[in-house]
Amino acid sequence: MSEIAVRAAGVGRTFGGRRTTEVHALTGVDLEIAAGEFVSLIGPSGCGKSTLMRLIADLDQPTAGSLEVFGKTPKKARLDQDYGIAFQQAGLLPWRTVLENIVLPLELHGVGGAERRARAADLAEMVGLTDFGRRYPDELSGGMQQRVAIARALASQPKLLLMDEPFGALDEMTRERMQTELTRITAETGAAVVFVTHSIPEAVYLSDRVVVMSPRPGRITDLVSIPFGGDRPDSLRESPEFFQKVTEVREALHGAPVARANER
Ligand SMILES: Nc1ncnc2c1ncn2[C@@H]1O[C@H](COP(=O)(O)OP(=O)(O)O)[C@@H](O)[C@H]1O
Ligand SMILES: [Mg+2]
Repeated sequence: MSEIAVRAAGVGRTFGGRRTTEVHALTGVDLEIAAGEFVSLIGPSGCGKSTLMRLIADLDQPTAGSLEVFGKTPKKARLDQDYGIAFQQAGLLPWRTVLENIVLPLELHGVGGAERRARAADLAEMVGLTDFGRRYPDELSGGMQQRVAIARALASQPKLLLMDEPFGALDEMTRERMQTELTRITAETGAAVVFVTHSIPEAVYLSDRVVVMSPRPGRITDLVSIPFGGDRPDSLRESPEFFQKVTEVREALHGAPVARANER
């Protein structure tokens, strides 16, 4: 039996009530994410993507249903450092160097100095920042800062990565390079990923499965499997199979087939 990274059963999160109107940020979310699986959440603003991420990361609690991370409560999984988090803002500490930022989770976990330094060097190499270890965040480009954040998220060797629009602030070229690197890193580490994005091609390129969501109330409306396997060369982005999957996700998002320009 393969291990389940995340299991959500009937998960809901309602905000407000009493004096204010209730907001059903999430309702009836049933979702199982396998160990090592890459899953993207896509949908318009307000459909509950960040809410779901926050519930998985134990930053918020569901008001309905049950949620398990590697068969544990999200809180237990957090305490065991089963997952790493990288959100839209890199969130680096400006007074710490690249290497010092990367080892932060290891420090919090009481890992000794020598091992920390060795792991930091490995992680910096993995994200292509070997020559920048002693630099400070404000000396780095946005893409490099995001790579530091990803290295930090990987520091405790989590079996699960939670990424909420991590590439949202990057230019298109950097973004594609980061996507390629992320697929390489997750193939190397075998980590499962829950990845929030607004970009359909990004979701298709990265994922084993795309979860399509819709707002008011926030819910899952479709699941699209992406059968491209582990090795994803850049040329995949220009292939007919890729465009077919982009179209499939796009139609799922719009809730109906979308008329194609060349069919007028
Ligand atoms: N702390 C909160 N208090 C009240 N409403 C919230 C809170 N967090 C999120 N919401 C509402 O829940 C819905 C889903 O928000 P969110 O999960 O941030 O959506 P997304 O990340 O998909 O854009 C939105 O209507 C949002 O306004
Ligand atoms: Mg969000």
